[in-house]
Amino acid sequence: MFSILTIIYLIASVTFIIGLKMLSHPETARKGNLIAAGGMALAIFGTIFLYENAGGQKLGNLIWMFGALVVGGVLGSVSSRRVKMTQMPEMVSLFNGMGGACAMLISLIEFNKISGSEIELGHYIAIVFGLVIGSISFAGSIIAYLKLSGKQKDISFKGQHIFNAMLFAIILAGAVLTYFAPVENAHIYFYGTFALAILYGIFFVLPIGGADMPVVISLLNSLTGVAAACGGFLYDNKAMLTGGILVGAAGTLLTVLMCKAMNRSLLNVIIGNWGASNAATASSEAYGAYKEVTISDAAMLMSYAKKVIIVPGYGLAVAQAQHTCHELEKILTDKGVEVSYAIHPVAGRMPGHMNVLLAEADVAYEKLEEMEDANGNFKTTDVVLILGANDVVNPAAKNDPTSPIYGMPILEVEQAKNVIVNKRSMKPGYAGIENALFFQPKTSMLFGDAKKILQDLCTEVKAN
Ligand code: TAP
Repeated sequence: MFSILTIIYLIASVTFIIGLKMLSHPETARKGNLIAAGGMALAIFGTIFLYENAGGQKLGNLIWMFGALVVGGVLGSVSSRRVKMTQMPEMVSLFNGMGGACAMLISLIEFNKISGSEIELGHYIAIVFGLVIGSISFAGSIIAYLKLSGKQKDISFKGQHIFNAMLFAIILAGAVLTYFAPVENAHIYFYGTFALAILYGIFFVLPIGGADMPVVISLLNSLTGVAAACGGFLYDNKAMLTGGILVGAAGTLLTVLMCKAMNRSLLNVIIGNWGASNAATASSEAYGAYKEVTISDAAMLMSYAKKVIIVPGYGLAVAQAQHTCHELEKILTDKGVEVSYAIHPVAGRMPGHMNVLLAEADVAYEKLEEMEDANGNFKTTDVVLILGANDVVNPAAKNDPTSPIYGMPILEVEQAKNVIVNKRSMKPGYAGIENALFFQPKTSMLFGDAKKILQDLCTEVKAN
């Protein structure tokens, strides 16, 4: 029986790896997710029915376990079905927090089992790592969820970084003291360490600014993976270990990639908070006047263009206009216009947001151009149509060293012959800064909700 379970864990580990690989391409992502979930289900049921301890005893508490599976399964699937695309980061954060909580609870339970007796070092390290990392991840993710859903504001105070560093040092000291303390007192240090780790998770995320939240979520995600891997060590469970390490490694890579896409170091994200309120803003008056374009003129311009590049942004997701956008792309293509999409890595509010959004509308993957490729192609483009994007096309990132987004790579749309910007007003984007692009002679503003504007554009282009 034990060997069958080992084989099941091996299968689960392999499906995680295959699933993760498939997640890296929109065409295979859905299947990859199912394959990894299938492996996880196999590991769960394999453990429930086949696991035996050293004494040959099987798991009890089946009613509790199946009760938890049903409650968790129903809550998870209902909330996943209901969640709006724009609320995905909140959901990811909440689910990640649950993973951290599981690792934390495992450590609490395992410590209780050995409390009062001599502690074996290797076993203790896995317990305390799982406890500290899991607690930070749990508390931090809940704060991240509350902030993303607008229920919690950024909070920072003078000396917060020093406070956090000291808190972390005390947590480490508590973890060491638990091991060396007399057996009868160890639990005091252990629960003290637990409480401080929860506090640290809260204070770590509270000051971080809005635009940096996805980086933090990705970091917390990797922490949850590491905490789960500690559980894998504790239970000698290969599937848990592989799953945890994969999540930890993937989360770390994603964190690094996102920092790169924003041209910021991780330390800068954690310590600085430009996404919050300290963004330097130049007033609109400083840039002069902007011009508007009518639907029919915009439609005419695009209908007679050779090449059009669409730049999707957060506003397209808010308007849920991805299907209408695909419709416009098809109408233009039928007219012989070459249409593609330029995708900025941090357009939207979560990694890959635009890829997922356009895949949902069945936009062909070949139509999507990565930022570097698109920047090489704008020169030969007649019309760039910007749909609800702002920061990712802001030239301040290139030419204003005082701008908080200075150094962030952007889509250099101003190289195209004409730029049409669709948004509802002249309000700034996520970073809270003005965009000089809107005031350039080549740029025309097309105000309105992206869905309505796209619907009107479809009608007009058809008529041309
Ligand atoms: P933003 O800079 O946030 O701009 C979005 C624009 O969409 C806004 O200026 C808004 O202007 C417009 N808009 C909103 N609703 C609309 C609607 N219904 N119809 C038409 N337009 C609408 O978006 P972006 O260019 O995609 O840049 C993303 C920003 O978010 C970057 O600063 C990035 O660092 C940050 N960020 C990214 C991520 C990731 S990982 N993707 C995560 C968090 C934050 P109006 O209000 O005038 O309409």
